[in-house]
Amino acid sequence: MCGIVGYIGKRDVAPLLLEGLARLEYRGYDSAGMVITSPKSTGLKMVKAKGRVRDLEARVPKRFTGTTGIAHTRWATHGAPSDINSHPHMDPENKVAVVHNGIVDNAAELRAKLEADGVVFASETDTEVLTHLIARSQAETLEEKVREALKVVEGTYGIAVMHADFNDRIVVARNGSPVVLGIGEKEMLVASDIAALIAHTRQIVTLDDGEMATLKADEFRTYTTSGTLTTATPETVEWEAASYDMGGHDTYMHKEISEQADAVDRVLRGRIDEKFSTVHLGGLNLDAREARGIRRVKILGCGTSYHAGMIGASLIEGLARIPADSEPASEFRYRNPVVDPDTLYIAVSQSGETYDVLAAVQELKRKGARVLGVVNVVGSAIAREADGGVYVHAGPEVCVVSTKCFTNTVVAFALLALHLGRIRDLSVADGKRIIEGLRKLPGQIQEILEGEEDIKKLAAEYADAKSMMFIGRVRGYPVALEASLKLKEISYIHAEAYPASELKHGPLALIEPAMPTVAIVPNDSLLEKNRAAMEEIKARSGKILAVAHQVQEKADHTIIVPKNEDELDPILMGIPLQLLAYHTALALGRDIDKPRNLAKSVTVE
Ligand code: M6R
Repeated sequence: MCGIVGYIGKRDVAPLLLEGLARLEYRGYDSAGMVITSPKSTGLKMVKAKGRVRDLEARVPKRFTGTTGIAHTRWATHGAPSDINSHPHMDPENKVAVVHNGIVDNAAELRAKLEADGVVFASETDTEVLTHLIARSQAETLEEKVREALKVVEGTYGIAVMHADFNDRIVVARNGSPVVLGIGEKEMLVASDIAALIAHTRQIVTLDDGEMATLKADEFRTYTTSGTLTTATPETVEWEAASYDMGGHDTYMHKEISEQADAVDRVLRGRIDEKFSTVHLGGLNLDAREARGIRRVKILGCGTSYHAGMIGASLIEGLARIPADSEPASEFRYRNPVVDPDTLYIAVSQSGETYDVLAAVQELKRKGARVLGVVNVVGSAIAREADGGVYVHAGPEVCVVSTKCFTNTVVAFALLALHLGRIRDLSVADGKRIIEGLRKLPGQIQEILEGEEDIKKLAAEYADAKSMMFIGRVRGYPVALEASLKLKEISYIHAEAYPASELKHGPLALIEPAMPTVAIVPNDSLLEKNRAAMEEIKARSGKILAVAHQVQEKADHTIIVPKNEDELDPILMGIPLQLLAYHTALALGRDIDKPRNLAKSVTVE
């Protein structure tokens, strides 16, 4: 949520910050701003604008030059999107500038105290509290001023601070909101996400919670909020800068959907062990004896990751015969859950930064549980907090809605389920069967993607629906849930997902010609049951689009997907429905990569 980028060096900073903000816009996009300066200048110059980064760019004055700056693209939490509420926030004397991701929980209380002391606030934001606290500090150094302010602040933050009297540096701090340093040659960068850094440097340092850093053009220092120096050795990131470009596609979503065959190939690469019909998962940190001792698996994630976890649970239960379920992390953490020592907890997250998932992991760890992560972003907070895990290797996902990460996460779960299964009771023959199925996936995904034109035509046919129903049974139900989420996120069409078996217990009342149903109908042991559900819908004059392995007579249209092993079919059945959501949203003229009210990483509660 919200994006930060900062630079100190010799280059003209404003264009560099704008380019960085554009790369971060997927994290928040209701307003943007920047503050810049240069070693010779005695003041800070600011420009802000409600709207997109392009609106900010249009407002940048001529001769807005400098070599040090911090910038921000916002997703509003405190105070509506407006010029005033956008970041950076400055004190009345224009000495201090702060950009902030996260939420200051005690902002109201601090604000009241400051106002009682005569401080006049310009904005409605929680961040402005930090600005005044830093500006009013009597400490001698900027580092000390920031540290003093942070001492009284409760909540989460990733901040970058500039001060007119200390214009040779940027001071940054992290608590619960990502901060990454980019180490260059006589230049330093900072961002909330490596997306903004990768075009300039591959050498990065990820701050830990409770860590701060001082960036000067030719050096950086990291230390704790209590002042103790920490050792930070830069790591080399592998993701290519080109992965953040649209690569000839009109939207990131389309690019990311199209990349799925390669992405799945990547998550499989180097992991399959033909000899023992299993897989190697290097980072699991779970030996065979421990794996045999697991009595239950609980998967925690939010949104699409929660849905991927549902399919993961059914893979683990099916292949490893361990009872497993998936629960929204956002609910789990608030219900004082019983934490069982024989349960393996798995946190799922594309970004590895989702606050509710991270908080659930921290609570579990505090209670002594073993937590694995199934995460895309290498070195992210959840990946680092977990005891081990599996990276999903989908590559950067920029579109706010998740597509390739969903697919790769489910494949990662299939690998984990196979691994656990082969340690327990899954036969060599079944292990081989699943491996063969996994190997077929990239080719079958490509085949589905080649049918895009047909799906586009179907989307045009369904785009005028006001509401849509998605149904599936057992393995098909999470596919229905995910497809309905995808449709509503980007097309704003209301969509509901139900287990097909639940139709007659209520939702059937909604069925009428104007409420089409998308039915997930794999050729498995439940085929006849699914056909019966379609029959019930047809009897109420409902229109049906089936996703199936063969033409479904009861359906008005069928999207045919290639058959894999029953356990792996959900991976394939979700893909045409990503395209359906995409083309529906396109037909409705929606802003697909930046749907209203949403942001890519939800790093606040
Ligand atoms: O980064 P995460 O996987 O933890 O994100 C979880 C959800 O916020 C995310 O999946 C959200 O539901 C997306 N908008 C789905 O398209």
